[in-house]
Amino acid sequence: MKFMLVVVLLWPFLAFADLYKAYKNHFDIGVSVSGKQLFRDDKIKVVNKNFNSVTAEYSMKWNFVELEQGVYNFNWTDSFIDYAENNNKNVIGHTLVWHKSNPEWLFVDADGKPETKEKLLRKLEYHINTYVGRYRGKVKGWDVVNEAFNFDGSYRSSRWLDIIGEDYIEKAFKFAHQADPDAELYYNDYGLVNPKKQDAVVALIKRLKKKGIPIHAVGIQGHYSLTYPDLKALDKTIARFATLGIKVMITELDVSVLPFPGQEERGEDAVISTERMTALNPFVEQLPDDVEQQLADRYVSLFKVFLKHHKSVSRVTFWGITDAHNWRNNWPLQGRTDYPLIFDRSLKAKPAYEALVKLPQAL
Ligand code: XIL
Repeated sequence: MKFMLVVVLLWPFLAFADLYKAYKNHFDIGVSVSGKQLFRDDKIKVVNKNFNSVTAEYSMKWNFVELEQGVYNFNWTDSFIDYAENNNKNVIGHTLVWHKSNPEWLFVDADGKPETKEKLLRKLEYHINTYVGRYRGKVKGWDVVNEAFNFDGSYRSSRWLDIIGEDYIEKAFKFAHQADPDAELYYNDYGLVNPKKQDAVVALIKRLKKKGIPIHAVGIQGHYSLTYPDLKALDKTIARFATLGIKVMITELDVSVLPFPGQEERGEDAVISTERMTALNPFVEQLPDDVEQQLADRYVSLFKVFLKHHKSVSRVTFWGITDAHNWRNNWPLQGRTDYPLIFDRSLKAKPAYEALVKLPQAL
């Protein structure tokens, strides 16, 4: 009798104790895992319990798997895929084509001169065939192209664009589809609430579809703050992408609680006074309770928007497991103490976590 009473009283907590299970009728809940974290029991325990999708935070980028031409290092990725298979997690491949994290040799020939368009395309095709082909049937979906546009909707400058031209994007999608016809293929970017950038990505998706080149989802990165983005703009953004007949994924979610520095404070040569730095980095020791609560409220507001669109949103991935290892501590400014995730520096679930676990049943 007593046992029954305990079970009944604890039922809401027992039933909804794991984050991804709380969202099982809505979308996958993912997390990024970085280098050594994969081999740390304490971190992996948190991943096992709360997430059903995993993305490599950096270890699957080009310069980690093929730093030297033709010399592939798949050790980490093999372990990552094994981990995911053994623990029933979906794997997202991040990322095939980006303006960053590329090895030196990629854009130059043996004499150090800029590579020709044809040769760069062959390098791209070979890399994608080898890499995507190796994990055929094991990676659920790939971020095929990452961050190809500026805020004004123009193509972002990159060696890919310089050498191949705008159709490097189409080619990458074609090669990825060739290498694994069953893998989902995504275009991934930040700042997609921005109207001009959004228009450019919508146009890209329409163009790919018209040409019969497979694209299955748009990844909205989700590097957010307590005030950015405007929730109505986010709501409209998701709705608009959904009308294109593709899925929407929130792929790199984190919510900074720190003030966003001005453009002039962000350059390498920027000089920031001690006083100003204190204002920009106010929570070095700990996060005050009221800001902790604001973070929880903000996560709830964001997830309400995602849940509203659960028929189109198929995944929400957090960009990191714990505040201790999150790139927001160093972006957009180096060396700050941020608190953007739902597990704190000692891996304890924060109020934001508790609120998110309860949210779906409360609606
Ligand atoms: C970042 C990682 O979080 C860092 O650890 C790494 O040093 C640089 O890359 N957009 C992306 C991600 O698509 O790959 C970036 O991740 C963050 C911005």
